[in-house]
Amino acid sequence: MAVTIYLSIIFLGLYLLGLAVRKVFLTREARRIKRESRNGARIVARVKEMQPGSVRKFWLVCGKHRIDGFLVNYDGNFHAYVNRCRHMTTPLDFVRYQFFTEDRRHLICLTHGAIYEPDSGLCIEGPCKGLSLYRLPVIMERGEVLVGCPPGDVAVLAD
Ligand code: FES
Repeated sequence: MAVTIYLSIIFLGLYLLGLAVRKVFLTREARRIKRESRNGARIVARVKEMQPGSVRKFWLVCGKHRIDGFLVNYDGNFHAYVNRCRHMTTPLDFVRYQFFTEDRRHLICLTHGAIYEPDSGLCIEGPCKGLSLYRLPVIMERGEVLVGCPPGDVAVLAD
């Protein structure tokens, strides 16, 4: 009985410690993102740094929520999406930093193979066919690519 109580206290302490660490981490990250932001959007990349076919992952802090996103240069146009498959709530690059199909024409979720159009985010093949990735607003300014928070309630998009 006493062991169970001690273990419960230890686990509760670890849980609270985890929450505190997460809060400190998010607060620091929010400050850093604020420094890297302009007009309410985060500077994610310089245009020159991202060749067509390249992808960059990033985080946004939108209100109290952290959103994982990725920016893709597809045929010279930049698109940003929440890094979350529409089939299940896993990131598209669940295993490794890979977003494109082998022929580099589509985005792919490596978990079950859903295929998305890079320019629209529409799932055209796989278990989420007909649904679209959540798009994030992209601003091109002074040779930089900025990405902002999506409008509305972002809680459903957050970790
Ligand atoms: S989680 Fe992406 S296809 Fe299933």
